[in-house]
Amino acid sequence: MKNPVFHGRSKHINIRYGYWGVCFIYGTFFALRALSTAGKTYKNNEAACKGVKFLLSIQNEEGGWGESLLSCPTEVYTPLDGNQTNLVQTSWAMLGLLFGGQVDRDPTPLHRAAKLLINAQMDNGDFPQQEITGVYMKNCLLLYAQYRNIFPLWALGEYRKRVWSIKKVAVGKHQVAVGDEDELAEFSTSWRRRRRARTLASLVGEA
Ligand SMILES: *[C@@H]1O[C@H](CO)[C@@H](O)[C@H](O)[C@H]1NC(C)=O
Repeated sequence: MKNPVFHGRSKHINIRYGYWGVCFIYGTFFALRALSTAGKTYKNNEAACKGVKFLLSIQNEEGGWGESLLSCPTEVYTPLDGNQTNLVQTSWAMLGLLFGGQVDRDPTPLHRAAKLLINAQMDNGDFPQQEITGVYMKNCLLLYAQYRNIFPLWALGEYRKRVWSIKKVAVGKHQVAVGDEDELAEFSTSWRRRRRARTLASLVGEA
């Protein structure tokens, strides 16, 4: 059965099918990003609202996202076997939610996803290569080897800027920013990762 949300993708403005990435997560992320450049987010735009809801509806139990390449030929959203997480697709979904205005609604889904990304980074700083997420002409997979690093870092950078930088506490009469880096680092499960998360947080904080 066709997923009614995506049926007739070329006839509607809510285009979310991804031609160069697998698949609906990728398309939705870029649609939300494009809408956000015109000031359109969950709050004031129906298409953005649908995109955000779609992404939230397919977050898996551990807080990640994972989409099967079967989505591409079938044009029906299909999760990875066993609802597994793919880190690149998790990053796309996070970015889509960040651009779509989810931070103002409820950042919890973003916290869950950020934890997964931070803890998946390997000791050499690289992220693992998982399922291939590039695609061409609906069925030819393309290995973009740097996707595994570019998108998690981009997602964590936007997350750091949009979620943690707005955190302020009252000290006397003043509002001051709290020690974001330390709090973000608490997401990590090892001292090595904590140190790296702290470094990452301070780097993206400068951006
Ligand atoms: C995958 O997620 C769907 C939707 O949340 C759920 O119905 C299904 O039981 C999950 N499958 C596994 C293997 O966890």
